[in-house]
Amino acid sequence: MEKYSPDIQPRRLRFHLTPPVPKFWHSNSDIKTYHFNALAIFLPILERLVVLSIKKALKEVSSPKLKAEVTSLVAQEAIHGIEFSRINEDLILPHYPIHTSQYKLRFFRIVAGLINQFSSTFHYALSAAGEHFTAISADLFLRNAIWFEGVDPVYSAIWRWHCIEEIEHKSVAFDVFKAQKGSYFIRILAMLIMTGVFSVLYLKPIWTMMKQDKNHINLKFYGRALKYYWGKNGLCRALFKPYLDYYKPSFHPTQHQNEQLIVKWKAFFQKTTFTEIVEKLQFLEPPV
Ligand SMILES: [Fe+2]
Ligand SMILES: [Fe+2]
Repeated sequence: MEKYSPDIQPRRLRFHLTPPVPKFWHSNSDIKTYHFNALAIFLPILERLVVLSIKKALKEVSSPKLKAEVTSLVAQEAIHGIEFSRINEDLILPHYPIHTSQYKLRFFRIVAGLINQFSSTFHYALSAAGEHFTAISADLFLRNAIWFEGVDPVYSAIWRWHCIEEIEHKSVAFDVFKAQKGSYFIRILAMLIMTGVFSVLYLKPIWTMMKQDKNHINLKFYGRALKYYWGKNGLCRALFKPYLDYYKPSFHPTQHQNEQLIVKWKAFFQKTTFTEIVEKLQFLEPPV
């Protein structure tokens, strides 16, 4: 039996940015840059907690297929965490004094460790909820090229790679939770908690960046933010329905069909060098 799942392959890519990276690297937009910077700051935290939780499943699940998928997820998330921490050094730190380590992992580790001891099933439920957020965002960002419009492909490459792998492993934590006979109540409770944690971790760095740029006292900025999140093609508006789908008792991540978004990329990754990947990751075609 292969160590990794054939459908979920960890790819040891290394993203290096050549300084100086513009402060508003996302299409010269403050709000769009804040959004992706915030994700880049807190994703490594969430990813480490998912790894901590889901590693335990290697001892608890019996299905060899699911075990291989867990091994793949752990490897992918570990690499994501390292790469986002690395890229933050050039992307964010020169402009904002925010570092992942500033978001003390110790607190989250202690809480996650306690939950892990108390109930690994509940910990799996938290991981499944976190993975739902990344999966629905990945779907959105890959489905429509507007989300990286005007961004240098050198900066967007890491996001596209991350989105592809998040879609690849979107069901693993959920399936582990189900394999441990996790109930609907626990799944929903974990999602509600994760929604709160996610919002705090996301908004904290955004507030820091807004304050530094004096955008927290800029009414026009709030107008731009409202449009970005809740406008016609707004981020929250687009994510709202797929987010709510999680609350259906019959929900499973495969009900969001997006495998076609990554089919070409999976084949492409197998035979392409990293330089070519960065060059070509920009050409994401909308699904047929
Ligand atoms: Fe990830
Ligand atoms: Fe993930």
